[in-house]
Amino acid sequence: MNFAASKGIVLAGGRNLRLHPITIAVSKQLLPIYDKPMVYYPLTTLMLGGVREILIISTPKDTPRLKELLGDGSQWGMALSYAVQDEPKGLAHAFVIGRDFVGGDPVTLILGDNVFFGSELALKTQQAIANNRGATVFTYPVKDPRGFGVLTHDADGRPVDIEEKPATPKSNLAVTGLYVYDNEVVRIAESLQPSTRGELEITDLNRVYLRRGMLDVVQFGRGMAWLDTGTPESLLEASQFVQTIEHRQGLKVACPEEVAWRMGWITDGELAALADSLQGRGYADYLHDLVANPDADGKNDAY
Ligand code: TTP
Repeated sequence: MNFAASKGIVLAGGRNLRLHPITIAVSKQLLPIYDKPMVYYPLTTLMLGGVREILIISTPKDTPRLKELLGDGSQWGMALSYAVQDEPKGLAHAFVIGRDFVGGDPVTLILGDNVFFGSELALKTQQAIANNRGATVFTYPVKDPRGFGVLTHDADGRPVDIEEKPATPKSNLAVTGLYVYDNEVVRIAESLQPSTRGELEITDLNRVYLRRGMLDVVQFGRGMAWLDTGTPESLLEASQFVQTIEHRQGLKVACPEEVAWRMGWITDGELAALADSLQGRGYADYLHDLVANPDADGKNDAY
């Protein structure tokens, strides 16, 4: 697969009110999902999509902490940069902040609290980036869609409408926190008016593409997991999900060192050096074992 040169943004700030008091002193994206910080999950989703140049946006307090955690990305063969969002002005505000970073390129946005897992993930993301005409959103069937952007489509699968948190949803398809855009997105985001809650809404932005006939939809199926992490219950459930998969398979979910190595962005020697630099033995041993047994059964199916 030839990777299109899409840039990436991880939006990792917000109010995180539903997790108070846990998130009074720290943003949720730095909290653990089982054995690694939450931000590793959306970051590796972009990496699996072939995105190597990524802007991390967070709060004034947490941007330095994320920088301390993730660095400039060179250790993973990537380029990471950082920008501050002074206040949570909405998901579409990411493109206003990221205008200079995006430049003249297409861009893929992922929300910093979205956990995706499944064998469809890498290929569908890569294909969406390669084939994107205007905007591409990813939907996922959920039992109760009332808390999400909900997509309705016609008999041919073409999108008809997206409603934000509808009281009576017309479908069970939630729009997930992964969005692929062409370069127009910056101009469209800058032209949006804040909603009644004072935010630049991603649904308003996606509706502009919908009206222009430039919105495509990729459905993630029931074999995929798309997990919430915004409440104490969902945070714990996400940790338990990752723990179950990792213990059963002996393979890690969302390990950036491994993904960088599988993508061919770092060598065996560089992966071994990263393992040596980690103090926690379990994680380091896992990386050493990848180098020692690269073709062990199942490992190459991991992504
Ligand atoms: P939300 O779930 O909409 O908001 P939140 O995470 O602040 O949570 P709560 O409802 O508990 O207050 O945000 C989705 C993701 O986007 C999450 O990772 C936070 C991030 N975000 C920003 O970084 N900036 C923003 O302006 C908004 C609205 C969200």
